[in-house]
Amino acid sequence: MNNVISYLESHRSQALEGLKDFLRIPSVSTDPEHTKDLQRCAQYLSNELERIGMRNVRVNPTAGHPIVTAEWLGAPGKPTVLFYGHYDVQPPEPLELWENDPFDPTVRGEDLYARGSTDDKGQVWLHVKALEAHLRENGSLPVNVRMLIEGEEEVSSENLEAFIEAHGKDLGADVVLISDTTMFDYDQPSIGYGLRGMAYMEVRIEGPNKDLHSGGYGGSVPNPLNVLSAILGQMVDSDGRITVPGFYDDVVPLSDEERDAIAALPFSNERFAERLGLMDVMGEKDYSTLERIWARPTLDINGMLGGFTGEGSKTVIPSKAMAKVSMRLVPKQVPEIIAQAFEDYIKRLAPSSVKVEVIRHGTGKPVLTARKHPAVSAAHEAITKGFGKAPVYIREGGSIPVVAMFEEKLGLPTVLMAFGLPDCDAHAPNEKFHLPNFYRGIDTAAWFYEEYGRSDALD
Ligand code: BES
Ligand code: MN
Ligand code: MN
Repeated sequence: MNNVISYLESHRSQALEGLKDFLRIPSVSTDPEHTKDLQRCAQYLSNELERIGMRNVRVNPTAGHPIVTAEWLGAPGKPTVLFYGHYDVQPPEPLELWENDPFDPTVRGEDLYARGSTDDKGQVWLHVKALEAHLRENGSLPVNVRMLIEGEEEVSSENLEAFIEAHGKDLGADVVLISDTTMFDYDQPSIGYGLRGMAYMEVRIEGPNKDLHSGGYGGSVPNPLNVLSAILGQMVDSDGRITVPGFYDDVVPLSDEERDAIAALPFSNERFAERLGLMDVMGEKDYSTLERIWARPTLDINGMLGGFTGEGSKTVIPSKAMAKVSMRLVPKQVPEIIAQAFEDYIKRLAPSSVKVEVIRHGTGKPVLTARKHPAVSAAHEAITKGFGKAPVYIREGGSIPVVAMFEEKLGLPTVLMAFGLPDCDAHAPNEKFHLPNFYRGIDTAAWFYEEYGRSDALD
């Protein structure tokens, strides 16, 4: 391993430059205008995988954006890792809040700023570089590796399930490895063992067939914005509990043991609030902040549209109103059941004078992953070597729908080895990757493949 680590040390600037090129491609999966860029991005990645010596590198077309696959299976008797990541990114808007062009990666201080820098291109790239070092220095990898890097994670992995079903036999492995989450804190690395799920909804309310003078008509007709805000305002009560009937039916309560473990983690509400410019934290009664993020479900309005929002004032009753609402789910809530319960509740709360439409967007299942697995031990060792500090075990508030798919379709457990940071601003303006984490992440990934290669296959 010494040769691999020194290769990595002497190739840091190449690693950074390659990542910058990856980040320059605006692979915004939700925007049809960027379809070509997604293809370009998949091609860039596959060229690189080919160059470092991965085999059977493919850009697989799908009904949406392509899926890049690759493999290196030259270690018979050794375990097989299925590495999963995504090369698509969230839209960069609002652009005026960025300090640099989101697709012109820029280093300021110790951070690299660009859309996708942490989520997830930077974290994919560090594995590519770790694999490259093994292949260059030793001509081989310590384990068998399959890679699946998709271009639709940020739009709920719409075509991945069909792909996994069709190509299951080419995806056989002992474990899935993902670096697409956040570390517990600066200088406190972590291994994730849980993700929340998701049901993403859109609500449309239609009142009068055109905008109306709010004096001439106000008080006599339904105002869609009033209706919508009244409905949504009832959905979370003053204890922070969600009022959708049946919402908590399938929620697995936290065990005392897990609550103790979470409470033992170094976390301060004051520091958390201060970092976010808040006077105080807020959330469901009787739960700590970490419990609220990791183990309790939520209902959040992500955006609302309607009426007059320009300069000055305009007296108007809007004809329509719309809101996007996400619900983060925890084991064992079922996204489809929750989506149905939400829809039924909205329709029940709405007055008969308006038209209501509820649209379902993406869903994803919540998961808890194996905590005792040779690959988790390997990740533990690798992180301890790469960061000089042992990881803590945490759950995550975000969602990666594919984790449940890998478990259900392929029977595979997942290891979440995180290199992002809580303040990386993923999905927000000025997303950044902390460069010390990028370099430690490359070393840690290299150590992971090495350590996992030392454990026996299939145990
Ligand atoms: N990398 C994130 C998921 C994540 C973020 C996990 C932070 C843990 C901590 C991923 O790219 C993502 O954004 N997922 C979406 C999924 C959704 C579109 C179904 C999410 O969580 O909003
Ligand atoms: Mn991601
Ligand atoms: Mn994301």
